[in-house]
Amino acid sequence: MAIGVELNINVKNLEILGLGAILHDVGKMLVPLEVLRKPGKLTEKEFEQIQKHADYGFHLIKNVHTVSLLVANCAYQHHERLDGSGYPRGIKGDEIHYFGKIIAVADVFDAVTSNRVYRKAMLPHQGLEVLYAGVGKKFDNAITEAFRRAVAIYPNGLSVELNDGRKGVVSSQNEGIGDRPMIRILEEDGERIKEPYEVDLNKNLHLLIMKCLDTRTSLTSRISWLFHSLFSFMMAGATEPFPLLK
Ligand SMILES: [Fe+2]
Repeated sequence: MAIGVELNINVKNLEILGLGAILHDVGKMLVPLEVLRKPGKLTEKEFEQIQKHADYGFHLIKNVHTVSLLVANCAYQHHERLDGSGYPRGIKGDEIHYFGKIIAVADVFDAVTSNRVYRKAMLPHQGLEVLYAGVGKKFDNAITEAFRRAVAIYPNGLSVELNDGRKGVVSSQNEGIGDRPMIRILEEDGERIKEPYEVDLNKNLHLLIMKCLDTRTSLTSRISWLFHSLFSFMMAGATEPFPLLK
């Protein structure tokens, strides 16, 4: 949504984009959980099963007649890439709807900066580099720039460790420079300090964030898990309440 606001999308279309973003992975509830959560390398067949979630999502949403077909297309197109290297159809450039391109950028950042069963999360600025590496080939340039401007790469309140060992929390943002925020230092040499102070990463370019100390699971994976649990519960006619989010 923040990217859409940055791109001056009107309110009516923001509602569609927002719903598309929330539901973009809804098709994963039809992918077997053991495949979705497999810790090791996927076989070709398992990867094909996962890829089907875009198609499943499209068909699930398009049958809800109160929802715009564009929302269904967000689910259908969020893994398509500008150069045609995406899936499920391998469409390219302007064949991909603008909203599909926006959700692709947000989804890739979310995916690479979240812990997965098969790999650890990248740091947010590393996630941004993944996007930059794909600009013009996989991701739209203007959308990626809007993402950088609109999204706090290191959000306020996040606990971080710097390359000199000091620990603190992100206290405020430097506008337009989301990867170099202000840090309130709380710990030095492994000891809690009595008088916390601020360090501006944009004025101290030798300092880098080396670790994010908050473990987080991506919002989208939590939502997918919720849908999957709900769907399994309904299909099984289970008497047990479906598992709570962890
Ligand atoms: Fe997806």
